[in-house]
Amino acid sequence: MLKFSESVSFDRRLALFDIQGSRAHAAMLAHVGLISAAERDAIRQGLDDLHREIEAGGFDWDTKLEDVHMNIEQALTKRVPAAAKLHTARSRNDQVALDMRLFFKHACADLQVKIRCAARAILATAESNTHILIPGYTHLQRAQPVPFAHHLLAWLEMLERDAGRFALVADHANWCPLGSCALAGTTLPIDREFTACELGFVDARGRPRVTQNSMDSVADRDVHIEFAAACAIAGAHLSRIAEDLVLWSSSEFGFVTISDAFSTGSSIMPQKKNPDSCELLRGKSARLHGNLHTLLTLVKGLPLTYNRDLQEDKPPVFDSFDQTSLCFQVLAGVAGGLKVDSARCAKAVADPALLATDVAEYLVKKGVPFREAHHAVGAIVRLAEANSTGLDELTLAQVQSVHTAFGADWTTVFDLRRAMAERSGVGMPGPVQVRRQLARWRKALAD
Ligand code: ARG
Repeated sequence: MLKFSESVSFDRRLALFDIQGSRAHAAMLAHVGLISAAERDAIRQGLDDLHREIEAGGFDWDTKLEDVHMNIEQALTKRVPAAAKLHTARSRNDQVALDMRLFFKHACADLQVKIRCAARAILATAESNTHILIPGYTHLQRAQPVPFAHHLLAWLEMLERDAGRFALVADHANWCPLGSCALAGTTLPIDREFTACELGFVDARGRPRVTQNSMDSVADRDVHIEFAAACAIAGAHLSRIAEDLVLWSSSEFGFVTISDAFSTGSSIMPQKKNPDSCELLRGKSARLHGNLHTLLTLVKGLPLTYNRDLQEDKPPVFDSFDQTSLCFQVLAGVAGGLKVDSARCAKAVADPALLATDVAEYLVKKGVPFREAHHAVGAIVRLAEANSTGLDELTLAQVQSVHTAFGADWTTVFDLRRAMAERSGVGMPGPVQVRRQLARWRKALAD
């Protein structure tokens, strides 16, 4: 049962948050007169000593004491007799809720920094390859030409939303549950707002934010789930980005080379260089999705308020944090070290069929209804295929036999540079817009 029920093996990573919470709680107890200033100071001194010891790795964790909270309280009480008063008006139920909220604020800030680092690496690679065009894909079929940078800027949009989600989770974590005690508060005259202010649970104007229902405060695990969901969605993004890179780095595509530091050789095939970093990014996302599912399953059907099941909320949260953090660091390394093969990209994007939609739009500009234009271009594509020629090699007579709206200027459509320049609207891949977007990101990602 000891082995089964202990949590200190994993919740000890909350130790510094636990100490931070205890410092604030002791300050509040002194503030309302439940302990003396001398007792508060002795407790604070003891907590500072423990803090140093834990940070230095010299603290002896004991699974018999079950969790991080009991371990720290016992060690403290051994040294500071006044610490026997520290648990006044507090329960491990609101204590663990507090520790996790402090953890989430820290974790979300940390991940936002890591996302920015990855975004900067992607931006740098986009900026040093602005002249390169690649086919954009739908259904994994070559669809239309786009600047390589436009594709990378799409990744930045995804990462930006991820960062926004972590900011939101941090905001949701920013309510202090302390004072809810086991589930029904306390008869003692505590000052919850004081503790909240001490711990930085305040709104933009510095007003304290304390949770509004003691039962919900100890039962709620929404922030856990939201954090895991933010990691899971980030994981889906990381996995899609990774898949783009796995494809692009294959000899079939050959658009990019992943640096040696982020590739692995095969143990049997000497010619192989595998994109293991990207495959692992793809694989880790499964784990992140699983952690979210674990948490949802954990709380489903639990009666209010605290149940010991909830101790199992921590491993998936910590794992999601650790893995997401690593994933963004690896993405930064992979994206920053990409070598783009401009010749292979140019070859892939050279197929005039990629501009078939532009041909239809050429006809639209001549007054042909789009449906009719689409149909006509379908016919000339088939004609080119039947004659084994490129779409741009059909004669004027041939295309006019399909639709009389074709004029002598119809081949100007196949000028890639012009095709891109005409895509000048907001969000489009034309050079003016891409330059504008690059400048926007450069500014947004500057220190
Ligand atoms: N280790 C426990 C957890 O993480 C702390 C709260 C324990 N509360 C209790 N009433 N047993 O959930």
